[in-house]
Amino acid sequence: MNEITIIAPDDWHLHFRDGDLLKETVPATARCFKRAIVMPNLVPPVINASMAEEYKQRILQVLPVNSSFEPLMTIYLTNQTTSQDIIQAKQSGVTAAKLYPAGATTNSDAAVSQLDALYPVFETMSEQEMPLLIHGEVTEQHIDIFDREKIFIDQKLSKIVENFPQLKIVFEHITTKEAADFVLQASDRVAATITPQHLMLNRNDLLVGGIRPHNFCLPVLKRNIHQEALRQAVIAGTNKFFLGTDSAPHEKHKKESSCGCAGCYSAWSAIELYAQVFEELNALDKLEAFASTNGPDFYQLPRNKSTITLIKQDWIIPSDIKLPNGEFIVPFFAGETVKWQLKNK
Ligand code: NCD
Ligand code: ZN
Ligand code: ZN
Repeated sequence: MNEITIIAPDDWHLHFRDGDLLKETVPATARCFKRAIVMPNLVPPVINASMAEEYKQRILQVLPVNSSFEPLMTIYLTNQTTSQDIIQAKQSGVTAAKLYPAGATTNSDAAVSQLDALYPVFETMSEQEMPLLIHGEVTEQHIDIFDREKIFIDQKLSKIVENFPQLKIVFEHITTKEAADFVLQASDRVAATITPQHLMLNRNDLLVGGIRPHNFCLPVLKRNIHQEALRQAVIAGTNKFFLGTDSAPHEKHKKESSCGCAGCYSAWSAIELYAQVFEELNALDKLEAFASTNGPDFYQLPRNKSTITLIKQDWIIPSDIKLPNGEFIVPFFAGETVKWQLKNK
């Protein structure tokens, strides 16, 4: 197959950041995605309806002319979040709320330390039909970083799912077989996003032949049996998995550092890389469900009306991108060949 046309996709998990960086990140995503769930881990975090609305306006301001892209806003749960915050957020059109265990990832210091204390908030979210999006890793120092997702499932996620049978939960950027299995056996109210990097890479790609800081993201890449489990999950024919790039830019010098930041900036190549993975799996016919229909169906939003076309044509991802402030970002898969290309209309 040399060409594939699918319903226009959405990105159900990404980081636009803020300020001048929006001029880079928003057009990059809007070139092919119609909507995106915008993560709230700014500094300071987006914790309520008014901050989400202001952030949304800043995003809309940098949209290319004629773009119909729609940012779907989220709020960041903290120890101080109240049920009233959720009700207000829902009323003002916020799509979901995000749970970061404190210290789990980039800009999560303000996040939740005691999950049980948030149970009244989860109850309100369940009543308000507001999905809970979760970065699923425990953060205890003594727990091995490669086990943090699995232990989160056992200790935290299974309890939340059990206690709130009506609450919609998206287990974000899953990285393990255990996570895929957990989502598969759970009710229809539990789904997961999967990134391009976790489908394409495993932990060898972080460490063999030298440290590769641009492949470092959280949850960290796992061993190849987990990568294989995720690859099988996206083509299994279930509607529980959908596209979430977790595109998460950090300036080059912050990644190529003695203490490098976590996050891969994949917006310029994500849909093409997903297509490449599905083709490798002989399952291009499953791409549309993953990229364009499972997500809106889960969020109970309409499927997009327009389509995109991808053509089979090699291109090379640039080695860096210059930002408005003069700094550089190294995109995910920089300098590598991608086999699919978005056809511009
Ligand atoms: C994300 C970021 O940089 O904001 N980083 C990452 O490695 N995935 C945060 C997140 O999604 O956990
Ligand atoms: Zn995360
Ligand atoms: Zn993320």
